[in-house]
Amino acid sequence: MNFDEQMKKRVTEVKSVIAQYLPAEEGFQRTLLEAVNYSMTVGGKKLRPLLMHQTYLLFGGNSRVIQPFMAAIEMIHTHSLIHDDLPALDNDEFRRGKETTHIVFGEAMAILAGDALLNLAYETAAKAFEMEPGNPAVGKAFTVLAEKTGAGGMLGGQSVDVEFAGKAVTPEQLFYIYRKKTCALIEASMMVGAILAGAGDEETETVRQIAEKVGMAFQIRDDILDVTGNAEELGKDVGNDEKNSKMTYVKAFGLTQAKEDVDRYSREAVELLSKLPGENDFLKELILVLIHRNS
Ligand code: IPE
Ligand code: IPE
Ligand code: MG
Ligand code: MG
Ligand code: MG
Repeated sequence: MNFDEQMKKRVTEVKSVIAQYLPAEEGFQRTLLEAVNYSMTVGGKKLRPLLMHQTYLLFGGNSRVIQPFMAAIEMIHTHSLIHDDLPALDNDEFRRGKETTHIVFGEAMAILAGDALLNLAYETAAKAFEMEPGNPAVGKAFTVLAEKTGAGGMLGGQSVDVEFAGKAVTPEQLFYIYRKKTCALIEASMMVGAILAGAGDEETETVRQIAEKVGMAFQIRDDILDVTGNAEELGKDVGNDEKNSKMTYVKAFGLTQAKEDVDRYSREAVELLSKLPGENDFLKELILVLIHRNS
């Protein structure tokens, strides 16, 4: 199987894992549950659960305990996107090739669907405790997932991103925003995979460093695509950073430098990956194809 075929197969597997944990659309709160399922199934690359699973395999993981965590990270990520698109934040109308959740279901329902997904993520990850009650790695993984999501992680980055829109941003603040709003969830993805497969603290820290580099490359590429990308291919509008007066890596350092740094961060990530015991050629290739992604 070549890389593209493998990728297709893996994404299909991830989607079926996630589907097990999505709610039935019933009861008086049915509209909320429809909004939750709409945002989870409408599209998206499923990169974070993919990275989690591949890191788990790299360290020899072979249990179903990874599955609730794979669903949980995609729920947290999707919550972040629903709220990121709200009029109060980036005010975007297209996402994953379709109208954003607040356009389809209204703003109040989108706020609640985002909250519901964030909570559902922990309800889902908590199922791992029942699956393997005696496994201390489950608690460790749960803690990493929660910490990387909160005010010291993704949400902290989002807060600085919106607070400083239209204002001067120092390079230090810009790096903070990227490390938190984007790297933190990618770190959580790969670290949870490593921890659940039994990686030690030192190896898990190396995995965190790899994920941080992948996250930096990923967000810089996202900023590049906001300038040079094609809305149809991307599945979201372009030019939004300019519209919202966001300071981006492209604006701060220029397009050429930004492209070079996507390449550099990705290659550094792959180099660090090769220092870990175990081999996963698919994971290596996945990190490298993201350099030139157009969606
Ligand atoms: C979008 O993430 C938000 C960023 C961190 C740039 P993705 O590009 O992974 O979004 P989906 O999940 O594929 O829609
Ligand atoms: C998104 O950054 C990061 C999170 C949603 C946590 P952006 O605001 O650049 O993402 P897009 O471009 O809307 O996907
Ligand atoms: Mg944003
Ligand atoms: Mg946005
Ligand atoms: Mg963006």
